[in-house]
Order: sequence, then structure tokens, then C-alpha cells
Amino acid sequence: MKTLVVYETFYGNTEKVARAVAEALKAQGEVQTLRAAEAKPEHIAGVDLLIVGSPTRAFRPCPATKAFLAAIPAGALNGVKVAAFDTRTVMDKAVPGILRFMARIFGYAAQPIAASLQKKGGTLVGSPEGFFVRGSEGPLLEGELERAAEWAASLAK
Ligand SMILES: Cc1cc2nc3c(=O)[nH]c(=O)nc-3n(C[C@H](O)[C@H](O)[C@H](O)COP(=O)(O)O)c2cc1C
Repeated sequence: MKTLVVYETFYGNTEKVARAVAEALKAQGEVQTLRAAEAKPEHIAGVDLLIVGSPTRAFRPCPATKAFLAAIPAGALNGVKVAAFDTRTVMDKAVPGILRFMARIFGYAAQPIAASLQKKGGTLVGSPEGFFVRGSEGPLLEGELERAAEWAASLAK
């Protein structure tokens, strides 16, 4: 199985998750990781599983991720398995109530990424997943990289 993991990152947390996901899938075959800003629709050729991950910013995926998804031609993901993840802030008491409320309503990046991949013809395997960081810059919560590896392994089943 050939897998492509496309990710965007500002502080390195999403990159860590992307690398844990890629590592977990190496047992299944070839895995390539690319930053969203460098990823082009041509990179999808021959890929069996495309995984896209972005930090959540303002409840949505970040610009390079959106640009990569927009550049994928209609139908280009027909027959391709797809999955999506994001990183997101732990909505604990340190986060203002209004933001916690808005996050409940407007959600996180993984869901719209998954919808976009499906719109281009992809078959969603596994539920869109979020991995938690503390504050904006992280670090990732303890155990999140292990959870990412488990999530990735479940996609290959
Ligand atoms: C401008 C800005 C907006 C953000 N908006 C959200 C948000 O809407 N929901 C959320 O859970 N986290 C939000 N965050 C936290 C990011 O999700 C967090 O910085 C990201 O997961 C870190 O990933 P990275 O290290 O790969 O950049 C925001 C952070 C910044 C800087």
C-alpha cells in the first residue's frame, strides 16, 4: 500500500503527529510525507491512502492545506482511501468561555478536510480525528503520538 501524508505546521506539533502516523503505516508499504505548501496534485498519482492533517485555526484548516485541497481536480481521488486529522487546543478552563462555546459550534479542521477529500472522490476510512495540544504552541498532550499511531494503524485495516 502506498500512503501519502500531507501536513501543515507552525509550531511543529502537527508535524510530529504526521510523522507518527507515517511511521505507523510503514509496516504496510511505502509512505511519503509532504508539507501542504509543497504538495501538488501530481503527488497523489498511484497513492492508495491519502492522509491530510492541519492545525485548527479559527475552527478551520490552515491556508496551505486549503490550497492543496482546492488544487485537487474533481474525481482525482476516485478509488483512493482518504483520512483527515487536525491538532487543536485543549478546551480547558484556561480557554475563554466564548471560545469554548464557539469551538463547540464551529468545530475543528479535520471534519472540513475530510469533506473536501470526499468531494474530490475519496473514500473516507476512519473518522476524522483531532489531537490535542496545550495552548497554541503545544506541546502535544501526553499519549497523543501513541494515539496517532493507533489511529493510523486502524486506517490500514
Ligand atoms: C491564530 C490561531 C487560531 C487558532 N484557532 C484555534 C481554534 O479555532 N480551535 C482550536 O482548537 N485551536 C486553535 N488554535 C490552536 C492551534 O490549533 C494550535 O496552534 C495548533 O494545533 C498547533 O499546531 P502546530 O504546532 O502544528 O502549528 C489556534 C491557534 C492560533 C495561533
